[in-house]
Amino acid sequence: MVVDVDQLDNSLVDIDVYTLTEYVSAKPLESNLEVLFTTTEHEEKPCAQLKCGENLKFPFARDSYSPVAVSILDDKELVSADAVTDTKRVVELTLDISALGDLHYDPGDTVAILPSNASKVVAQLLQRLDLTQQADSACHVRLAANCTKKSAKVPAHIPASTTPREIFTHCVALHSVPQKQFLSALASCTSDVRERAFLASLSSKQGAVHYQTLILERGLGLLDLLELCASCKPSLALLIEHLPRLLPRPYSISNSPLEGKQQLRIIYSIRARKPGVTTSMLEVKLKEQPARVFVYPRLQNAFHYTDLELPGNQILIAVGTGLAPFLGFLAHKELCQQQATGQTWLYVGAKTSQAMLKQQQLIAWQKSSVLQRLRMCYSRSSSDDEPKHVQELLEQDAEELVELLLLPKTILYVCADGAKISKSIDDCLRRCMQRVLHLDETEAVKRLKELRTQGKYREDVWL
Ligand SMILES: Cc1cc2nc3c(=O)[nH]c(=O)nc-3n(C[C@H](O)[C@H](O)[C@H](O)COP(=O)(O)OP(=O)(O)OC[C@H]3O[C@@H](n4cnc5c(N)ncnc54)[C@H](O)[C@@H]3O)c2cc1C
Ligand SMILES: NC(=O)c1ccc[n+]([C@@H]2O[C@H](COP(=O)([O-])OP(=O)(O)OC[C@H]3O[C@@H](n4cnc5c(N)ncnc54)[C@H](OP(=O)(O)O)[C@@H]3O)[C@@H](O)[C@H]2O)c1
Repeated sequence: MVVDVDQLDNSLVDIDVYTLTEYVSAKPLESNLEVLFTTTEHEEKPCAQLKCGENLKFPFARDSYSPVAVSILDDKELVSADAVTDTKRVVELTLDISALGDLHYDPGDTVAILPSNASKVVAQLLQRLDLTQQADSACHVRLAANCTKKSAKVPAHIPASTTPREIFTHCVALHSVPQKQFLSALASCTSDVRERAFLASLSSKQGAVHYQTLILERGLGLLDLLELCASCKPSLALLIEHLPRLLPRPYSISNSPLEGKQQLRIIYSIRARKPGVTTSMLEVKLKEQPARVFVYPRLQNAFHYTDLELPGNQILIAVGTGLAPFLGFLAHKELCQQQATGQTWLYVGAKTSQAMLKQQQLIAWQKSSVLQRLRMCYSRSSSDDEPKHVQELLEQDAEELVELLLLPKTILYVCADGAKISKSIDDCLRRCMQRVLHLDETEAVKRLKELRTQGKYREDVWL
């Protein structure tokens, strides 16, 4: 039986079941940081990571760009959530990017959004740490007076002057996977004997199986552990030391720059259960007036559709929201019909017909010859059609697909989840190559590798 970890409730975890009777506790670590409350004026910024100065780099940021607040001009629900088919809600945002200056972007480029942790979660954490009264008091973090670790330093994502609320809202990832060392540190600030034994056992060498089950597979994070261990009261300094940075999340641009350079669109899907940090934040922002998010443009890579690619052929493969960048490609092709003389084939899978993004637009693009081939399939369809994944469509068209792919001017683009879907699609392409070109597995793998090296097989992997 496959267990859906998202459906499991923490109250059902019996910590005694996961506590070993015999284990060797990890050696307690000295705390390397301390937090000092000060009386200085605290400078409020809507995103505290922007106060960290030059030392804090924003991953994959384009040269000379830092995050700026941009307005959400419009939001549109493209797909509504459906529990029966496990379909996620999908929303399209239009952003006013004039604050980024004269940004040049191509279809396929991405922007990063700075997330923040939910205010309710932050308030609960502050309460647990007995910091509710001091939540907005100015403080600064420094190396502890007794710190002996040579490599110890104050993390670059903590501003010189800040507040506990700012740190928890903007700087640290509260939902990260707790490392064993962190669990051991949490044990050392847990007063109840049973709860302390649970955390210490989980962090011990002997507790590896339980760590695998509870932390890695079931996904228990700091907040779940605090819920299970009511007497665990870590200090602010300890959490700053062990929680990683709250990192920006990438989103694909889903329009053509020719539609108006000062605006861009992105599309996100949000899980109904245990929604992610950034997507939850976006849902809250949509209700605010004015609605703003911090955004920066990410470095460009080969997953794009520029003047160089316009005259060639494209094979586009996507699942679900992975269609987002290709909507930008197709809108661009429509606006550049003079130069865009090649074939464009789109293969896309969704859970149901209702979950297919912009289906009418796709059909219109096929009618107006922006798309020469449009192949759609549904994995949870209730119609007479057998449920399908996109690989079945690729296998059905294998002969023509491989023929088009091997033309010098053809580029294959895949946008999917790197965890498993990209791999399944890659396996399928390999099988198509084997069948059509009469290759053995090793030869087909080599051919696909060559196509990647030649820039004819490009992937956008949504980790
Ligand atoms: C190059 C690139 C481009 C991307 N473009 C887009 C895009 O255009 N649209 C888009 O929606 N996402 C896109 N993503 C994914 C996006 O960056 C985020 O990872 C996603 O929105 C979830 O962020 P979160 O902070 O809400 O979830 P987190 O808090 O980071 O998520 C917690 C866990 O839940 C999973 N998760 C959360 N939400 C979802 C979801 N909706 N579906 C499946 N798993 C989920 C995460 O993988 C993680 O394991 C892209 C990723 C990359 C690397
Ligand atoms: N890591 C992240 O944070 C993140 C965030 C957003 C999206 N994504 C990924 O981006 C993609 C699109 O997102 P989404 O939310 O729109 O997806 P989704 O609705 O969850 O799934 C889209 C389609 O992909 C199918 N699928 C599942 N496994 C597959 C496989 N091995 N091979 C081919 N198809 C498969 C699904 O079929 P079933 O009905 O069989 O499931 C469904 O039809 C997904 O890959 C998703 O996981 C990742």
